[in-house]
Amino acid sequence: MEIIFETQSVEQTEKLGASLGKLLFEGDFLALTGDLGAGKTAFTRGIARGLGMDELITSPTFTIINEYHDPVALAHMDAYRLKSLEELENIGFDDYLQGFIVVMEWADKVKEMLPTDVLWIDFTVLEDGRRRIRFTSDSPHYDKMIGELSK
Ligand SMILES: Nc1ncnc2c1ncn2[C@@H]1O[C@H](COP(=O)(O)OP(=O)(O)OP(=O)(O)O)[C@@H](O)[C@H]1O
Ligand SMILES: [Mg+2]
Repeated sequence: MEIIFETQSVEQTEKLGASLGKLLFEGDFLALTGDLGAGKTAFTRGIARGLGMDELITSPTFTIINEYHDPVALAHMDAYRLKSLEELENIGFDDYLQGFIVVMEWADKVKEMLPTDVLWIDFTVLEDGRRRIRFTSDSPHYDKMIGELSK
């Protein structure tokens, strides 16, 4: 199943992230893709807000993984600077696959490492600066989630 949204501003992108955040539970894995500056971190900021986090999230570009625990366990990852799959493994990637909501930017760089069932979210910058945000699901679980999101 595929659902496409278009946002006019960073605020709209964050708001869409917040709506999705309200639907997430431990064990969910969001695989974000799209160009530099397309809005992946902005969307993740919205997710955090939707989860009820007060803390402002910052991009984990250099740290690879930032984790948050209040009020829920969220792992925000960025695979952009990873040099190898081993590096991700050594950071303890597997430990985040249970008990956390995982949001990974540049997830297509480490496709081989991802769980079989993830929600893909792709960001494209349109000519006029709007963002096209495409959700692709392969499972009843995420189909249901993006169905809720489009209501
Ligand atoms: N509709 C929009 N949605 C999201 N961001 C937008 C939009 N319009 C303009 N912007 C701007 O685009 C930038 C998006 O930056 P952001 O850090 O979220 O991108 P990113 O995809 O995480 O990039 P990177 O790959 O470097 O991590 C921000 O400066 C934001 O203000
Ligand atoms: Mg980013």
